Amino acid sequence: MDEKQLLNLMNTLSVEEKIGQLVQLSGDFFNEGAMAVGPVQKLGINQGMVQLTGSVLNVLGADKVIKIQSDYLEKSRHKIPLLFMADIIYGYKTVFPIPLALGSSWNPDMVNLCNQTTAKEACAAGAHVTFAPMVDVVRDARWGRCMESTGEDTYLNSVFAKAMVEGFQGDFTPGESLASCVKHFAAYGAPEGGRDYNTVDMSERRLREEYLPPYKAAVDAGCELVMTSFNTVDEIPATANQWLMDEVLRKEWGFDGILITDYAAIAELIAHGVAESDKDAARLAMEAGVDIDMKTSCYANQLKPLLEEGEISLKKLDEAVLRVLKLKNKLGLFEDPFRGASVAREKKLSNCAESKSLSRQAATQSLVLLQNLNDTLPLTKEWKIALIGPYANNQDLNGLWAVYGDKSQVVTLKTAFEEILNPDHFQFTQGCELLDSYEGLGDFGFFTKEETLLNTDEDKKRELNKAIELAKWADVVIFAMGEHTLQSGEAGSRTDLNLPAIQTAFMEQVLPWVKKSILLLFNGRPLVLTDIKDKVDAILECWFPGTEGGHAIVDLLMGYANPSGRLTMSFPCAVGQVPIYYNGFNTGRPQKTSTHSVRFTSRYLDCPNEPLYPFGYGLSYHTAEYSNLKISNSVLRSGEQVEVEIEVHNSSEISGDEVVQFYIRDKVGSVVRPVKELRGFQKIHLKAGEKRKVIFTITEDLLRFHTRDMKFEAEEGDFEIYIGKNSEDYLVTNFLFEKK
Ligand code: GLC
Repeated sequence: MDEKQLLNLMNTLSVEEKIGQLVQLSGDFFNEGAMAVGPVQKLGINQGMVQLTGSVLNVLGADKVIKIQSDYLEKSRHKIPLLFMADIIYGYKTVFPIPLALGSSWNPDMVNLCNQTTAKEACAAGAHVTFAPMVDVVRDARWGRCMESTGEDTYLNSVFAKAMVEGFQGDFTPGESLASCVKHFAAYGAPEGGRDYNTVDMSERRLREEYLPPYKAAVDAGCELVMTSFNTVDEIPATANQWLMDEVLRKEWGFDGILITDYAAIAELIAHGVAESDKDAARLAMEAGVDIDMKTSCYANQLKPLLEEGEISLKKLDEAVLRVLKLKNKLGLFEDPFRGASVAREKKLSNCAESKSLSRQAATQSLVLLQNLNDTLPLTKEWKIALIGPYANNQDLNGLWAVYGDKSQVVTLKTAFEEILNPDHFQFTQGCELLDSYEGLGDFGFFTKEETLLNTDEDKKRELNKAIELAKWADVVIFAMGEHTLQSGEAGSRTDLNLPAIQTAFMEQVLPWVKKSILLLFNGRPLVLTDIKDKVDAILECWFPGTEGGHAIVDLLMGYANPSGRLTMSFPCAVGQVPIYYNGFNTGRPQKTSTHSVRFTSRYLDCPNEPLYPFGYGLSYHTAEYSNLKISNSVLRSGEQVEVEIEVHNSSEISGDEVVQFYIRDKVGSVVRPVKELRGFQKIHLKAGEKRKVIFTITEDLLRFHTRDMKFEAEEGDFEIYIGKNSEDYLVTNFLFEKK
């Protein structure tokens, strides 16, 4: 339809029919299993409104979608199709590594491909909209949703936001593209105490400088929807925050797509204490510009009385309804309400060889080698290998937000090793439980905790003894350890970031018999590895690597692939350092350069300031030397550009990928400026012995920030440039910026 036809359609709708378009319900209202990943409560919506609702939350599967859509349209007066929206964040049936892992690949083009593949699988299953990407900047590893973000850096998250939106949406070809909903707007990743849903409070400058850009990158990339976050911004819940939603998102950024709330967020305005009733909450959300109410009865039951009482305008209601109709139209749903949903195509695409191959490639590029002492890695088939731990033969490698992932397809470590090793060179045992108690983890929609397998003391003793026997037999022991899936993701905040005590205690009992040891980590956040790292030879951060996790890890351990992952979140020495991130401010008493005596500087008495592993860090099997940092001009003037060049030499006999990272520091500003900021990177492949010149271009745009008077501009003065392997290992040069 064209805009005029859409307008005509809207003008034929009754008020109830208009309101219905702004309501989103879960599948249980349509006689499908309630795959709810949020609190399920009785909504109090009458059946009449169910029949008018505009979109469905988290129901997928071609058969289900086709049935719901058919039944709905049969009873629909205006034949306006339902929108099917779901959490398809890093895979549909084929699951890719979690976004914190994908970010560690520093390969946005590959991640774009992953999302294209996901979109194809999900479209066949009847999806229209995905609640992704999640682009929240996160600097606090206590927060469980680190796993869903690409990390702590504003610039890098912005690069991935663009790549992910474009990967999902493509050119909107039916059957191949999903409308993308960027989330969680805004600054959801900065809750006090790292506790999910907790207060977020920061200056407007920090919000604009450090937290908003990734959402804007998604909007600029054309994402069709934005999701409001649960948290407050400037003491106003985002869902009712008119400044954020109208002034910034719609007026400053020109976003004219759909604004949808997070799960039940309108009703939560009451708990926040800014609304006295559902009616009050509905009014606040509508005034803020919220179009779709996810899973509450506020809009369904309160918008009509608010309209009749003149509390909200018909104009505002119509604007919201028109935005919903426009998306349905853009998706072609009026012409084809099923838009590519096909049981046969879903079966053919889900977990197809092409999807799995890409998942394996993505995982090999996303895992991060943190330590490799005593020539431990790569392994060879001649070694006798013992694989021990609760993740040794565990298919829970998809992470918490793989809502539709097909766990039965996940390749475990044991399976992957048995495919390539002779039985006389490989042995396995579980060794110990993941956790000593699974209580308090709760459930999360599709994912429920496993029952303990080692129930009795005899079970545990037997497993320990077997593990010790294997350790004595083996040339190398691989410990497969980590967090439980339910210990990260939404509502997965933790205050203790060490490996679970049951696992480290078990390792302590086995290590005395070990010749060489490798620790594989399965986790959704940075962990504190300070105590364990000196007890093992090698550490590979595997995150939750997805369907092909076992294959990808073995590829790296055996040297079939060369690790190239680089951290996008700092790993703390201790949880007391958190939030910890590379691009902080220098303070007036920087520990290393202050003129004050040692005590009176910004430091801890019991811990270094620096992280254990910094942003951008990761090892590879090849060795790379960085040299000859040159700058084309020591002065940059407005309207001109300067080039900075570095030479990277792979001095080893192994080809591999280097992530050449480019940081800038503004030495003096009208406000304090970060000690460094990532402003570019290039992931390059170097053959054995190859030397490559890598060039970055500097323009005035790269120097812009929110100045003292909140203007977004560059200021004259000295700048330093750091180019190297990570945020702590680099070469330095400088230049002067002068306006003409
Ligand atoms: C959840 C999450 C959000 C998700 C939504 C729908 O509570 O916060 O990321 O997209 O509800 O499931």
